[in-house]
Amino acid sequence: MKGLFITFEGIDGSGKTTQIKLLADFLVKKGHNVVVTREPGGTPIGDKIRDILLDPSNRGMSVRAETLLFEASRAEIVDKVIRPALGEGKVVICDRFFDSTIAYQGTARGLGADKILDLSLWATDGLVPDITFLLSADRSLCGIRLKTRKKTPDRIEFEEDGFKKKLQDGYIELAGSFPGRIVVVNGEQEIKTIFEIIKNRIKELL
Ligand code: TYD
Repeated sequence: MKGLFITFEGIDGSGKTTQIKLLADFLVKKGHNVVVTREPGGTPIGDKIRDILLDPSNRGMSVRAETLLFEASRAEIVDKVIRPALGEGKVVICDRFFDSTIAYQGTARGLGADKILDLSLWATDGLVPDITFLLSADRSLCGIRLKTRKKTPDRIEFEEDGFKKKLQDGYIELAGSFPGRIVVVNGEQEIKTIFEIIKNRIKELL
């Protein structure tokens, strides 16, 4: 049996975590074997890389170093967690995957979307999600949601609004390049409305 690889994308505060939880609970109730994971991180080595990447004292890290660290964490999680789980027929839900690197480092930081796609496919050894939900929500609304979480902002959340604008545009452009795989969902709707859309699309795939 072939597994199903689902990823969630969007700017911070777009509501990915809430939807991932709802989807995982729904699939478990339906009897599926579900693995939920996140990037960067999700493995012992990946978690160490995550700490370096998100540490606010590492502001000023070279963009190429940042990109390679994200890809290193990804290579590890693909080999140790995602591919083995898919091989066992499990449903893998990942909070962010290479589309994040294309949008954040490729577009917003300016390294180039095509170059990052090539690098990412090398890092994943060709693994591409079966389906990706991009939760789109205006960056100002996401900013308000983040503030109410009372979490200390990480290094990337410290970025100024110009970066977030490029990011938002980058994600939309990216969705246009992969219309079959990336499903854009308006993340400003009610939680249960968003979940209905996601659930219905997943039902078609299972
Ligand atoms: P995330 O796990 O969404 O952080 P949080 O715990 O706050 O929900 O992601 C961490 C940050 O890293 C986030 O700001 C997005 C950024 N990021 C990139 O810049 N490139 C990438 O390839 C990935 C996976 C994340």
